[in-house]
Amino acid sequence: MGKLESRNIEKYFKHDGKPLKTLDGIDLNVEDGEFVCIVGPSGCGKSTFLRITAGLEKPDGGEIFLDTKSVDTTGPNRIMVFQEGALFPWLNVRDNVEYGLKIAGIPVEERNKISNRYLDMMQLSQFATSYTYQLSTGMKQRVAIARALVMDPDVLLMDEPFAALDPQTRDLLLVEMQLIWQKTKKTIIFVTHNVSEAVMLGTRVLVFTHRPAKIKKEIKIDYRRPRVAEDENLLPYQQKILAELRPEVKK
Ligand SMILES: Nc1ncnc2c1ncn2[C@@H]1O[C@H](COP(=O)(O)OP(=O)(O)OP(=O)(O)O)[C@@H](O)[C@H]1O
Ligand SMILES: [Mg+2]
Repeated sequence: MGKLESRNIEKYFKHDGKPLKTLDGIDLNVEDGEFVCIVGPSGCGKSTFLRITAGLEKPDGGEIFLDTKSVDTTGPNRIMVFQEGALFPWLNVRDNVEYGLKIAGIPVEERNKISNRYLDMMQLSQFATSYTYQLSTGMKQRVAIARALVMDPDVLLMDEPFAALDPQTRDLLLVEMQLIWQKTKKTIIFVTHNVSEAVMLGTRVLVFTHRPAKIKKEIKIDYRRPRVAEDENLLPYQQKILAELRPEVKK
């Protein structure tokens, strides 16, 4: 058993009064320090799977194990970064980033030290005292990423965290994310619609089927880092994933 195991996760939602099967037995074993990317058609159940893994939602079947222990509630060891970085509008950027540290009782000097590092990494130092309404969408997303990273969780669950970023910031963060991962040896599950992003980041990429989602294919990306978007050697990996993904999107 690895760091995180998803065993036969099933989920149904109610739609028009009838049960709608969304996850059809997701079996996944993630080793400590792996960077797993998930791609799949819109509405297939990727966010639902992440939410279940985070303990934010209950599955209708199956179990999630962290370090061999069954988990069914949220915990500081699994932190989620959402599609839309949900920030507190009444807190400024620094206080948003430090929120979890404050709740955890970390003294203010230590909090500042940690948040400074990540504000700097996300190029937000200049905006530490700004409020969220004063930020662009991409900036808000960077605050959300910093807020998750300061907590130093065992497992980071990221739901399309870069989708709202401009291409230049995204390219920077794609390299930065690899460096953070290499440095911190975090276990990451990262959902994206962007196949090139998945290939740059992942140690392997999972392709989910159309709903009800199953894992259709797993593609290992054994290639040197940091990987950059322009590297043509990454194209064959992208093509392989697209060949699996396209028929699912058309269903
Ligand atoms: N709380 C809910 N109540 C009812 N149906 C839901 C709920 N949450 C998700 N669903 C349904 O479950 C399915 C999967 O949704 P989910 O958000 O997991 O998809 P996704 O793969 O993340 O899609 P996208 O790529 O568009 O973000 C969809 O059909 C959606 O309508
Ligand atoms: Mg989603």
